This record gives sequence, C-alpha cells and structure tokens, in this order.
Amino acid sequence: MIFREYEPRDLDSIVELEKRAFPVGPYTRSMLRKIFNTKGSFNFIAEENGKVIGYVIALPLDEKSADIESIAVDPDLHRGGLGSKLIRLIEEGMLKRSFQYSVLEVRDMYEEAINFYRKHGYVAVTHLPSYYTQVFRGSRGAYRMVKKLHD
Ligand SMILES: CC(C)(COP(=O)(O)OP(=O)(O)OC[C@H]1O[C@@H](n2cnc3c(N)ncnc32)[C@H](O)[C@@H]1OP(=O)(O)O)[C@@H](O)C(=O)NCCC(=O)NCCS
Repeated sequence: MIFREYEPRDLDSIVELEKRAFPVGPYTRSMLRKIFNTKGSFNFIAEENGKVIGYVIALPLDEKSADIESIAVDPDLHRGGLGSKLIRLIEEGMLKRSFQYSVLEVRDMYEEAINFYRKHGYVAVTHLPSYYTQVFRGSRGAYRMVKKLHD
C-alpha cells in the first residue's frame, strides 16, 4: 500500500468509494472536485495495486485550525487500521502547516465514526441540530469535534 497526494485521475474512484462508504449523503462528484481543488486543501490517498482504497482531505478553517472535510476507507477493509493511518497522516500534515487544532463534523447518530474519532483524541464541543440536509438514523444533526494537536 502507498500513500500519496490526490491526482485528478483519482476522482472517479473517489466518487465510487464515497458512495460505498457513506450510505446517506455522500459527496457528489462536483462537490469532491471542488474540495480537492480548494486552495490550501491537503490530502492523502491510500492506493493498493492501483486501486484507491481510502482517502482523507482537510481544509484550513482559520489561522489555528484545519477541518477534516472527509475521511473514508473501502468498506471491505473497515476495522483494519487504515482509517487510523489516514487520520494520523492528515494530523501530521496539519502540524507541518502549523495548525494547532483539528476540527471535524460527524453525524450525531453515527456511533461508529464518533467512536473512531474519540479513540483518536477528538472531543465533541458543539451540537449542530440541523447540520445535514438528509436524515440518517432519524437525525440531521452533527457534533463538531476538536482535537488539540501536539508536536
Ligand atoms: C470511520 C472510518 C474512516 C474508520 O476507518 P477504519 O479503517 O475502519 O478504522 P480503524 O480500523 O483504524 O479503526 C480504529 C478504531 O475506530 C473505532 N471504530 C472503527 N470502526 C468502528 C465501528 N464500526 N464500530 C465501532 N468502533 C469503530 C474502533 O475504536 C477502532 O479500533 P478497534 O478496531 O481496535 O476497536 C471508516 O469506518 C469509514 O470509512 N467509514 C465510512 C465513512 C465515514 O464514516 N467517515 C467518517 C465520518 S465523517
């Protein structure tokens, strides 16, 4: 497996991965293209045998913080440690760019993902009741979670 930066030729595979990983409200192709083309964004693509099996992308939020816009792993590989590798890489990327806080939003009913972020030191700081347009497990709400990064 290799980790590398996004290239435009990855877009189709990422759209597919996103659809498989997020049962409700995956990013569309145009949203993904926009995020990857946003100035200041940074990302890691996990590739195995020429196939994209995971990705993570972050955007600067303000001078001190960057936001994890999306992280996804091929569902066939869940619970195999790849998500942890990707989140560690993006946090290193944030530190390299002198960000002090990693921020993200996660669906409030998505226990599995909340669990994942908690394990990585994230703490829920705000509840956003109508953050998403689509309902998942009866809710449109999100938690904003934050982690103070350390060198
Ligand atoms: C969230 C996600 C990126 C985690 O990637 P992963 O490769 O499965 O994660 P890891 O194997 O590194 O898991 C690390 C820890 O997270 C927690 N975790 C991960 N998946 C979990 C699940 N389904 N249920 C409960 N805890 C879970 C566990 O504590 C796990 O450690 P353990 O396996 O030793 O118990 C992946 O499940 C995914 O792509 N989900 C769909 C997209 C998504 O939800 N993205 C984030 C939400 S915004």
